Amino acid sequence: MQQITSAHDIQRVVLAARREGKRIGVVPTMGYLHDGHASLMRAARAACDIVIATIFVNPLQFAPSEDFTRYPRDIERDRQIAEEAGCNILFTPTSEEMYPEGFKTTISVGGVSAPFEGIFRPTHFNGVATVVTKLFILTQPDKAFFGQKDYQQCLVVKKLVRDLAMPVEVVMCPTQRESDGLAMSSRNMYLSAEERSRATILYAALQAAQQFIMQGNRTRLSIEAVLRDVLLSVHDITIDYAAAADSEDLSQPDEFAPQQGIVLLVAARIGSTRLIDNLLVR
Ligand code: PAJ
Repeated sequence: MQQITSAHDIQRVVLAARREGKRIGVVPTMGYLHDGHASLMRAARAACDIVIATIFVNPLQFAPSEDFTRYPRDIERDRQIAEEAGCNILFTPTSEEMYPEGFKTTISVGGVSAPFEGIFRPTHFNGVATVVTKLFILTQPDKAFFGQKDYQQCLVVKKLVRDLAMPVEVVMCPTQRESDGLAMSSRNMYLSAEERSRATILYAALQAAQQFIMQGNRTRLSIEAVLRDVLLSVHDITIDYAAAADSEDLSQPDEFAPQQGIVLLVAARIGSTRLIDNLLVR
């Protein structure tokens, strides 16, 4: 596996690969890799000739009050995981490389970026859309792999690609979980042992609401009440949102139609750690 840090070098390598007709897959990450990230790399490995993983803790997508400076980093371990998962190229640009002096462009995706995360992290998706656009331009992928773990982010990236006619197929891969159901996340390392055991309540709430829907209940507020009740059964939890929405456009009808795809979305803070999770009910 080759590690590249300069924008110029990655463009040169990618151009050569494309000339040879190679199919390029990209997996954008912020590093501190776990099996969720590795599963995206394995999916890319299976579908593409050249797999590029990118590691860049993107300052643009963190608000000043958020965890940018303390976001966990371990490049040696990341190199091993990426290599084992079948990556050919690890792109690890610096901030100067991604946002050189005088960088002034922002990509802003409307619609699906507004609710949920958009309310609690108002500048977040602009930061994501801007960095993803630049990463796509630098790596010229045929396919880009994202995790369902960040469901709204997947919808935002799909909308970005569609609206700007980017020649990239966005592939959403399933959420990888720990054995007790907690969705894998680089941020789980912030949890104390006691918080870690309480954190399983997110997936428990999603499963309870899924069950409730399977029993024929399609009234939004009653579904959301199930999510909320289960979440609030543990102490010291702050819910940012616990919602049921249309799985395509995140609209929130009072009543879901029989064939309508529903996504259950939760964001909650356990102690000072903010966790998100979701489940699709189709
Ligand atoms: P990061 O949180 O590092 O996640 C990188 C990718 O891994 C995202 O597509 C995310 O959805 C996926 N992922 C994370 N946890 C997962 C899990 N448990 N199962 C499956 N996939 C999982 O998301 C970002 O970085 C950034 O916003 C980024 C897209 C890189 C832009 O900076």
